[in-house]
Amino acid sequence: MKFVRELKRTDYAGSLTAKHVGQKVVLMGWVNSRRDHGSLVFIDLRDREGLVQIVLDPNKAETSAAKDFRGEYVVALEGIVRARPDGMKNTKLKTGEVEVEAIRCEILNTAVTVPFQIDDENVNETLRLKYRYLDLRSPRLQNNIIMRHQVARLVREFLSDNGFIEVETPILFKSTPEGARDYLVPSRVNPGNFYALPQSPQILKQLLMVGGYDRYFQIARCFRDEDLRADRQPEFSQIDMEMSFIDTEDIIEMNERMLRHIWKNIKGIDVPKIQRMSYFEAMDRYGSDKPDTRFGLEIQDLASVLANSGFKVFDDALSRGGIVRGINIPGGGIFTRGQFDKLTELAKKNGAKGLVWMKQEVDGSINSPIAKFFTPEKLKEIFTKVGCTQKDCALIVADDYDQACSALSSLRVQLGRELKLIDFTKYNFLWVVDFPLLEYSPDDKRWVSRHHPFTSPADEFFDDMINANEKAYPRMLAKAYDLVCNGYEMGGGSIRIYRNEIQQAIFKLLGMSKEETEMKFGFFLDALKYGTPPHGGIAWGMDRLVMLLTQTEAIRDVIAFPKTAKASCLMSDAPSGVSRDQLVEVGIRLSAQAEKAVEEVKPN
Ligand code: AMO
Ligand code: AMP
Repeated sequence: MKFVRELKRTDYAGSLTAKHVGQKVVLMGWVNSRRDHGSLVFIDLRDREGLVQIVLDPNKAETSAAKDFRGEYVVALEGIVRARPDGMKNTKLKTGEVEVEAIRCEILNTAVTVPFQIDDENVNETLRLKYRYLDLRSPRLQNNIIMRHQVARLVREFLSDNGFIEVETPILFKSTPEGARDYLVPSRVNPGNFYALPQSPQILKQLLMVGGYDRYFQIARCFRDEDLRADRQPEFSQIDMEMSFIDTEDIIEMNERMLRHIWKNIKGIDVPKIQRMSYFEAMDRYGSDKPDTRFGLEIQDLASVLANSGFKVFDDALSRGGIVRGINIPGGGIFTRGQFDKLTELAKKNGAKGLVWMKQEVDGSINSPIAKFFTPEKLKEIFTKVGCTQKDCALIVADDYDQACSALSSLRVQLGRELKLIDFTKYNFLWVVDFPLLEYSPDDKRWVSRHHPFTSPADEFFDDMINANEKAYPRMLAKAYDLVCNGYEMGGGSIRIYRNEIQQAIFKLLGMSKEETEMKFGFFLDALKYGTPPHGGIAWGMDRLVMLLTQTEAIRDVIAFPKTAKASCLMSDAPSGVSRDQLVEVGIRLSAQAEKAVEEVKPN
């Protein structure tokens, strides 16, 4: 083994350019592909930085190993960089102007036949996740994971320069609620007791403010047992921060500067001052508190033209305090019945009970499933109110506010894509502010926090809070803010409650008994008594941030070892059963149902 021990690598294969012509280089990497021309063997050698073409003469003793080179073999070689002859240059390749003529080479390790070609983009994801370490060799994933590192580095640099201190907080802790289920870890030494993995370091970062650290940050791993989607993982990372003696403006200013630092350094883009929009404006205009503002299709309110319309669906919605709203789809007049049926399905999947569509026929009459309930003039008035003209169509939903907004938002996003109204090169940032503090949960029959229970109400609601004035609950606003980009909630935070009695009032309002409060949050309420500074913070979804920067739509593409939608790791088979001894040690006995489930998955 001459290579590695004696001959050290001089360059990355993927970094060679015309500048290196004439230089002697030592390269080490993987055989991406091999073409055997008998008297010459060509390989594409791959490493982290890319590919370069190598030319080897298998008939020379020093390079005869090339005869045995196969895909994904790990090889080392020494050679001279030379310019490719005109006509042989490959403009698609970063190193396409050069090739390396090998002087000597060696196989460092062999590889069995790989289950898929590394640079094949059409391999099914199950297979790629099972062999994640192979997929990680692909340029696509390598770019994403390396960009993730660059983001982490920029964040650390920016926050350190601005007086923030990085502190690690425990993973084995007590429930820190963010609205999801906890992951629990049984304690062997304290039988019957469990740690909860943090859903976020929320309580801990607030305690660091009590502890006098003034400005904290952490790239923190968070764990949430919730339904997974394209932009959610059961464990994910936050860029988490907290500041003392500040108000909303200070957090927004600091975070806008950090955002600019990241976008400037990674994308070369100067991000202008970020717009702000209240929660209700976002919901009214886009049906979502994380609107994609790269395109229009804004929602129109139809209440003013529908008072006592005589159509039960609309009248019922309005009379119970709901809304009837619609969006105008430019050019939608050509949509077919089948397309409207699909849109209706989408609206229903997103909470609506139905969808009304309207379009105009050549003779000027309005075609709609509800045409028979209205006069032609009224139909025209509704159609116009939605903003439609001759070639357009209107989509209308009648429902309670949240359901109607959610359905219209899903239609808006879907059609924005289908009709190619989105400029994918754009980054539209938005601060969404003035969130409601609470929302009523019909399932639990109580009020719950919209953000989390540590969020401060706006100043004017403090008295209502302390006096438990229930009438004020629906209109109470929070000092909370979300950072939104292209339809993603990239980050969210709030100014916190820092007075013990207000924190207690919130827990009570949320329906927690004194005992429950004491058991879950006693230590935290105690801390608030010992001189807690006013403070607030925010957490960015690190994974979502990298998704936006790399323009991928799957969170799995920016995490080295992600989990599937069923929260499992196809590579290692986690989660998996454990031995009976281990269960006994932690004092756990499986229910008959769980035993059966384990056996079904794994016989023996
Ligand atoms: P929040 O729950 O809004 O706030 O989370 C902050 C950000 O984390 C990201 N995020 C996720 N990313 C991937 N997978 C998930 N399952 C997931 N859940 C959330 C989102 C989100 O905006 N402690 C508060 C922050 C604070 O108040 O300072 C918190 O965790 O991008
Ligand atoms: P129905 O009277 O239930 O047959 O409904 C007449 C039309 O109204 C159908 O096209 C339904 O899809 C539609 N519809 C029903 N409920 C709603 C709703 N809540 N919002 C919008 N359209 C609805």
